[in-house]
Amino acid sequence: EKNGFPHFMLKEIYDQPGCISDCMGGRVNPDAGTVTLSAVSNFKERLAGAHRFIIVGCGTSWHAGLIGKQLIESFCRVPVEVEYASEFRYRNPVISSDDVVIAISQSGETADTLAAVELAKEKGAFIYGICNVVGSSIARATDTGSYIHVGPEIGVASTKAFTGQVMVLALLALLLGKEKGIVSEEEYHQTVAGLVEIPGKMREVLKQDSLIADFSKMFTYARNFIYLGRGYAFPVALEGALKLKEISYIHAEGYPAAEMKHGPIALVDAEMPVVVIAAQSALYDKVLSNIQEIKARKGRVIAVVTRGDTEIKKLADYCIELPDTLECLLPLVASIPLQLLAYHIAVYRGMDVDQPRNLAKSVTVE
Ligand code: F6R
Repeated sequence: EKNGFPHFMLKEIYDQPGCISDCMGGRVNPDAGTVTLSAVSNFKERLAGAHRFIIVGCGTSWHAGLIGKQLIESFCRVPVEVEYASEFRYRNPVISSDDVVIAISQSGETADTLAAVELAKEKGAFIYGICNVVGSSIARATDTGSYIHVGPEIGVASTKAFTGQVMVLALLALLLGKEKGIVSEEEYHQTVAGLVEIPGKMREVLKQDSLIADFSKMFTYARNFIYLGRGYAFPVALEGALKLKEISYIHAEGYPAAEMKHGPIALVDAEMPVVVIAAQSALYDKVLSNIQEIKARKGRVIAVVTRGDTEIKKLADYCIELPDTLECLLPLVASIPLQLLAYHIAVYRGMDVDQPRNLAKSVTVE
């Protein structure tokens, strides 16, 4: 069932273009340029009328939530908070019946996320689930929701579930923004067109697998990594660092690129690899100057750039190119090379990537 791949994780990384098409299937109409979600059709007023969204999740699902916050705030102009389910449930949080809580969980069985849902329900919030496993405990506990439909995820490190979660969040944010009259007709159709192109763009990124495998070898004995990104790329940096920690057991930290100078830059020397997501964006020049600061301290830079980049290419030790994408959809393509990087480093280190030590696929105890 690994389809000829040596590990489930690699198979699931390669499955992403197909999974993302499945996730959009029946929801995105490429000809009409429209999106539908049955949950939004059924609960239009409740969702479009929310005063605030609170997103809860753990681990990778929490990282998807950080991207969801940016998507919902930019398309819907409603405040969004993102909470670790474990912190939220024990903090006596302020929740009201005007809030919509979005619970994100691949397995649908994570104990803390389920408890957060129960608590929010008691306080009268409306609960929207984003799960993969159909009929799971969290899916059953919610008022409505959208499955990510990416198929069973076997590798303990989450890959296709993450991009599936981000896709559902993008569809939800766009659709609600349209319902609320905040997203213009033009932006709506443009974004839908951008979504439709994502599977093809993911395939283009996957073509760089052997390049990534080649330079990953250089990092087999690294002891630390820093991952940097800004805006939509910041949660991608956190997720890239988590993937590396989980399967290679190398210490890695993700930071917003501009926070470097507030502390972590002290760590940078010739032994410190720094992964920078530096795709074209309004903040490109700022990220470029962060890379200059790292190179001035002899750090080794692996940069994820937009195809056609010339400036960062001159500075970085290794470059991975992404096809040009709408900025809000960047995480869907930019997370793939970081999954591959973590995978190859872990394989060179001889680790069991599908069953990393100390981790379980679903965390049903707190
Ligand atoms: C990371 C990973 C974990 C899960 C977390 C939440 O690769 O797999 O961090 O994301 O345990 O799990 P779910 O999404 O099943 O609630």
